Amino acid sequence: MNYEAIVLAAGQGKRMNAGMNKQFIELGGEPLIVRTLKVFDRDEWCARVVLVVNPAERSRFEQLVVRFRIKKVAAFAEGGEERQHSVYNGLQALEGRGIVLIHDGARPFIHVRHLHELADAAARYGAAVPAVRVKDTIKKVDGLFVEQTIDRSSLWAVQTPQAFRLSLIAEAHEAAKREGYLGTDDASLVERLGKPVKIVEGDYRNIKLTTPEDILFAEAILASRVAE
Ligand code: CTP
Ligand code: MG
Repeated sequence: MNYEAIVLAAGQGKRMNAGMNKQFIELGGEPLIVRTLKVFDRDEWCARVVLVVNPAERSRFEQLVVRFRIKKVAAFAEGGEERQHSVYNGLQALEGRGIVLIHDGARPFIHVRHLHELADAAARYGAAVPAVRVKDTIKKVDGLFVEQTIDRSSLWAVQTPQAFRLSLIAEAHEAAKREGYLGTDDASLVERLGKPVKIVEGDYRNIKLTTPEDILFAEAILASRVAE
């Protein structure tokens, strides 16, 4: 099953505190974004990648694509103010009418096996997201006092790539834009339409590099892969 991918790299990486966009941080000698793009490059189901970047950084990304011989990046789209705006711009650069996977450039530890599971589930149900069961007990807090403990058995932490039928996610983004709704992930825009979103059991190693300690976790994950 073929799909197109939108890979998001237009953030600023503020929480990483690296003095640059975290996409350029090197992990085992390769920039983070290169590691992420290489997985899509290896996946024969992936027809093309739209890479969403800030215009000021575009030439730097273009150079990486050439230097690391990334083949699937077929188009660039311009990043927006918020992640949702970046995705919206990415959607405009898609070609097909089939399945789209929307992925954070900052999650390099995805597996082709998962990409396929997600694409298949999206074709079947319309929308599918990778998620892992929450391990910690989650409490709702108000002013640093506990308000409520939420039943953990129904809580899942959601990751990317999130997979959709293109027609559905395009409709969801148009509706959100029209109604001024800003969500924290793409699936939530589909949920607003009352449409189902299928959970695909994900992998705890599919971390998003967000804060400096995530570099340590990422290095450990890399080392474990080399050992395998
Ligand atoms: N992203 C994007 N456009 C934005 C904001 C985020 O393309 N306006 C991308 C980031 O580049 C990242 C992914 O969305 O790959 C997930 O966002 P996040 O982890 O929050 O990254 P940043 O926004 O870069 O980091 P921070 O919030 O700490 O500034
Ligand atoms: Mg952000």
